[in-house]
Amino acid sequence: MDKIPKSVRELNILIKINQDIISTLVFEDVLQAISNGMSELLNIETAAVYTIQNEKELLLGATTPPLPPGVPLEVRLASIDDHPYIKRAIQDHKPIIVDDTKSAKFSEAEQNVVKLRNLRSMLFLPFILKGDVLGVLILGTCNNTRKYTEHEVNLGQTIANHLAVAIQNAKLHEDIKIHRDNLEKMVHEKTQDLKTAIEELQAANDELYSKNEIIIDQNSELKDTLQHLKETQAQLLQSEKMASLGTLTAGVAHEINNPLNFIMGAYLRFDNYFRNKPDPNFKESELLLHSIKEGVDRISTIVKSLNHFSHNSSKMDESCNINHILDNCLIILNNEIFDRINVEQNYTDDHILVKGNAANLHHALLNILTNSIQAIEGEGRISIKSAYNSKFNKTIIEIEDTGKGIEPEIIEKVMEPFFTTKDPGKGAGLGLSISYRIIEEHQGKIVITSKVGKGTLVRIELPSAS
Ligand SMILES: Nc1ncnc2c1ncn2[C@@H]1O[C@H](COP(=O)(O)OP(=O)(O)O)[C@@H](O)[C@H]1O
Ligand SMILES: [Mg+2]
Repeated sequence: MDKIPKSVRELNILIKINQDIISTLVFEDVLQAISNGMSELLNIETAAVYTIQNEKELLLGATTPPLPPGVPLEVRLASIDDHPYIKRAIQDHKPIIVDDTKSAKFSEAEQNVVKLRNLRSMLFLPFILKGDVLGVLILGTCNNTRKYTEHEVNLGQTIANHLAVAIQNAKLHEDIKIHRDNLEKMVHEKTQDLKTAIEELQAANDELYSKNEIIIDQNSELKDTLQHLKETQAQLLQSEKMASLGTLTAGVAHEINNPLNFIMGAYLRFDNYFRNKPDPNFKESELLLHSIKEGVDRISTIVKSLNHFSHNSSKMDESCNINHILDNCLIILNNEIFDRINVEQNYTDDHILVKGNAANLHHALLNILTNSIQAIEGEGRISIKSAYNSKFNKTIIEIEDTGKGIEPEIIEKVMEPFFTTKDPGKGAGLGLSISYRIIEEHQGKIVITSKVGKGTLVRIELPSAS
């Protein structure tokens, strides 16, 4: 060691101090590195670093030899006023040298320190950064007095000032760490807040979604109810119309019956007259009388048929003969059929009675037959069939026409109320919906099959009465 020139040794120690400082940013470690390095550099036995706290207090940062671990903060704190030497070094911004502690005058606190470390010489080096004293580095020998050269003091002061920069850096680092920790904590808290907010939002969203579902459900329920109401209203209107039509036809039929009776009475008397008084023109008269009789018979059939439609009751226990009902409908529609449509009737007499409301069944079949007539443009054919299905005890009615048929896209809709393909005035779209309701009321079924351009078949099944 002795052989190495002093300046090289100093340089080596300085480099080591520097390296030690650079290698750590922990405040305590920086203090310790400098404290250790200085004791080696200036060949002293003990070193201590005090930093100034709140301008009035000193905090013992590191010592060589190191303090035992776990020394509480209060013990490491001291008032600047209790340490006049340190105070002077701070005030003067200059090193203070005590060659021999025995000849120095210390305060009680200073004496305690001297005693504790058994100090004989002391060097107080304030470390200064940009004119501010940050603390004091105290070096000392323990058993012997020591004279510090000017070079040593200068060297000490230079290092102490480096110490100031290092401490400042370490402090800044510490501050940054605290800020970073705070920032992390804040970010964590905000993230947590955000998470909670998102959860709340999600919950609110879910609630809104389910409320929306309820509203949608209620809306469609309302729509259904409204549709149902509309249908009921339409059917009510139609029933009312039919009822007043019934009253009207009943009235007309009754009014026709009276003059019909006059004609019938007159006819019988003429018939009687010609039979009893032979006449050369009797043959011709007989022909005329016969056609009067034929006319009267036809009128009374029509009147009777009209009466079937006018019958206004809600009874469901009438015995209804399907063949008669179909015939009555044809009588009413005769004018529409005329000679352009060929009507084929193929009836069974087997189990032809159905229990229900005759006027309504007239109504249902009239609607279906009317559609068939309207579907035939020009000439055509309508075949009407009644049959009995013994297996299921059902009376079957089939009405088939050679009309224009129903497009497959709309066949599902034809029984909906107000669905019509006809011009206003010709159809209101209520015929089939009313027929459907009436057949349903009789526990029956109605099925429509159709081919565009070929024709349509309406098949009705009703429970037989017997
Ligand atoms: N036999 C049929 N042939 C062709 N189309 C038919 C037939 N029956 C019903 N339709 C179709 O069904 C629709 C609905 O019939 P309907 O309820 O009786 O109302 P409307 O006769 O007043 O139009 C008709 O407009 C028509 O397009
Ligand atoms: Mg119709």
